[in-house]
Amino acid sequence: CGIVGILGGKSVATDLVDALRRLEYRGYDSAGIATVENGHLDRRRAEGKLRNLETRLIAEPLSGRTGIGHTRWATHGRPIERNAHPHMSAKVSVVHNGIIENFRELKERLTAKGHVFETDTDTEAVVHLITDGMQNGLDSISAVREALDQLRGAFALGIIFAGEDDLMIAARQGSPLAIGHGRGEMYLGSDAIALAPFTDAITYLEEGDWAVMRRAGAEVFDRDGAPVTRPLVKSVASSLLVDKGNHRHFMAKEIHEQPEVISHTLSNYLDMANGRVSIPDLGIDLATVPRVTISACGTAYYAGLVGKYWIERYARVPVEIDIASELRYREAPLPEGGLALFVSQSGETADTLATLRYARANGQRIASIVNVRTSTIARESDAVLPTLAGPEIGVASTKAFTCQLSALACLAIALGRARGAISEEQEQELVSALIEVPRLISTMLVDETPYVELAHLLSKARDVLYLGRGLSYPLALEGALKLKEISYIHAEGYAAGELKHGPIALIDEAVPVIVVAPEDDLLEKTISNVQEVAARGGQIVLISNADPEKIGCELAAHIKIPDAHPLTYPLISAVPVQLLAYHTAVLMGTDVDQPRNLAKSVTVE
Ligand code: G6P
Repeated sequence: CGIVGILGGKSVATDLVDALRRLEYRGYDSAGIATVENGHLDRRRAEGKLRNLETRLIAEPLSGRTGIGHTRWATHGRPIERNAHPHMSAKVSVVHNGIIENFRELKERLTAKGHVFETDTDTEAVVHLITDGMQNGLDSISAVREALDQLRGAFALGIIFAGEDDLMIAARQGSPLAIGHGRGEMYLGSDAIALAPFTDAITYLEEGDWAVMRRAGAEVFDRDGAPVTRPLVKSVASSLLVDKGNHRHFMAKEIHEQPEVISHTLSNYLDMANGRVSIPDLGIDLATVPRVTISACGTAYYAGLVGKYWIERYARVPVEIDIASELRYREAPLPEGGLALFVSQSGETADTLATLRYARANGQRIASIVNVRTSTIARESDAVLPTLAGPEIGVASTKAFTCQLSALACLAIALGRARGAISEEQEQELVSALIEVPRLISTMLVDETPYVELAHLLSKARDVLYLGRGLSYPLALEGALKLKEISYIHAEGYAAGELKHGPIALIDEAVPVIVVAPEDDLLEKTISNVQEVAARGGQIVLISNADPEKIGCELAAHIKIPDAHPLTYPLISAVPVQLLAYHTAVLMGTDVDQPRNLAKSVTVE
């Protein structure tokens, strides 16, 4: 969820909605704003996209110079208006990101005291808790302080009060919050990007901090209530809300931007003239690092999986990888002097951030590959390898993924060189291969008609399988994820060799099987698996540069990719799987850029 707050000089409703638009990547299943209007609290909320809230505000405007806003990704309670934030009583209104873990216990206690709960959310417990304190005679600030002491979980809160036009309270425990300083105005946001059009003077709250904000400034306190000074930094977040250009969707635009942004990212890590890799100092001896532990979520995890194959193959360093929500809780032992690497487009994913902190607590050196430089994961890392993908708006990640791959490839080569696993000549060969990638990808973006045709096949399918071996296995997983995310067709990615151990039971004439099989040293093996599919009537869509004759069976379609160095096939194969998912979703008429139930960045565990 995204939260915003403004102590403004004039009516704030329009600016609140404007800021929420920049936070929609955190959720878009409902939205709302609340203000202090003539001493009273009032709010407008709407189910669905932010435009529904805007429509409501036209019909029923909301005035007031002090306000908070929220865009939601439902955790507790269905995404209906009743559960949308801000939540409020006559005295206090609250927006919340995160989860209050002990809300049931609080709800029970407060209900017994006569408070009436109207929603299914965990947030409402905070409203009643503060209200209860105020009813017992506490002033607003003391009531919040007492309430904070009783909350368990990870959260960020923005709070306003009836009768208090010059007060807003912010609290951070586990979920990021940024305070923006304006001239006679103050702002609150989940991130600096939300506040970019208003101010670039930002104070980031630290863990356990809470702040009393007034138009004249903010006082910050730590968990124990002691006043603390947090630095005021100049944010570099861009206020530009990118547009789709000539493309129908952000996702299409972002797929087409890949040659350019991969170039940018590579040039950050390559000394092209000399054919060398140069990555930032990670503050660790790459020659002796005993193990790399990679963790991430979703698409970023699949990028990390490719990274594992690359690092193991080219640097001969053992790599452990796990999805963040698992690594964090399985008490994985981490080696002394190890490197922990986190991959995240947004840099705000709660599971990834929590795992980063687990790794730090376990003595790892922390490096991250992130796209948003101002993000929490970037700020909490010892070293950052930025991806220069630019803002990614489409919820289904495309260009961020290939930029993550670009950075990971450079890291693998750098590690390989540091350990003597590859020679200077091999380094030059690999660097030359990477330099070719943007050009090769642009050749694949010229003609999308094969994908439009294939979309007819896929859109009729109930299930789709994606197969790949070696470096193509993560691409099979990513292909399946892309398809299910935006077309809602059930899809699974499998290691090609694993097919015979179970999933082959699913295959019949109705199941399209997308095989990612570039011409590398594993092609022969994958071909055997393709034949197993063909023998059972599956419809094979081959993504490969190999001669289809070699496959020796009938194909439903062949998507030809260009010949490339084996290192770079994951980058090349990414494009066809993206386009297949995209055109299938377009044909099916889904909301491509903001698919149902998802958020671009999930800031709860
Ligand atoms: C969400 C998005 C995914 C994304 C994942 C990780 O689930 O819907 O597309 O891959 O988060 O996001 P991150 O910002 O950490 O890369």
